[in-house]
Amino acid sequence: MSQRHYNLFDKLINGADRALRTLTPDTQALTREVPQVSQPDNSEALSDQERKHSAGLMRVNHAGEVCAQALYQGQALTAKLPEVRQEMELAADEEIDHLAWCEQRLNELDSHTSVLNPLWYGLSFSIGAGAGLISDKVSLGFVAATEDQVCAHLEKHLQQLPTSDYKSRAIVDQMLIDEAKHAHSALDAGGARFPAAIKATMSLVSKAMTKTSYRV
Ligand SMILES: [Fe+2]
Ligand SMILES: [Fe+2]
Repeated sequence: MSQRHYNLFDKLINGADRALRTLTPDTQALTREVPQVSQPDNSEALSDQERKHSAGLMRVNHAGEVCAQALYQGQALTAKLPEVRQEMELAADEEIDHLAWCEQRLNELDSHTSVLNPLWYGLSFSIGAGAGLISDKVSLGFVAATEDQVCAHLEKHLQQLPTSDYKSRAIVDQMLIDEAKHAHSALDAGGARFPAAIKATMSLVSKAMTKTSYRV
């Protein structure tokens, strides 16, 4: 079977399409349904303060997924080996569900996605493309280190989300499982293990993103 080869122009158009769909609400097709909850939905019982707090945390998670899309797209653009490129594109596809689940939950909580998402997309895309230009090993290592940090964030969010916000908790539970899998597969594919100093710098950057996205 012949495989289609994309030139730089095709890739740029595809990248622009993906960026627009990431940043425009209701434009992503789900491959998996929103994680179900066993308890009856009691979102109505959440106090205004709890609802606001849940929305802030889910907005941070949504912004994180925007960053993941951009990072993987940037990396796919500059990855050297075709299998690494494919791995990045597959991971980006899996992240689309997370993006859509968080967006849907934000709507249910009568809230909105972060107005800063285009900024996060641009920054993350550049970082991903830069990492891919250095080497596939660094690029994959960056995925592993990023996903580790995302897992740490999600674990913190599970402690902070109102206990009765079953729907948000079910989404975060499933995301945690998926992100841990992404971190493992990036290392298995040959990713470098990043030193603690680089991880500490990355965590400063992600703190800026989480602090601002919680509010706006
Ligand atoms: Fe994700
Ligand atoms: Fe992920």
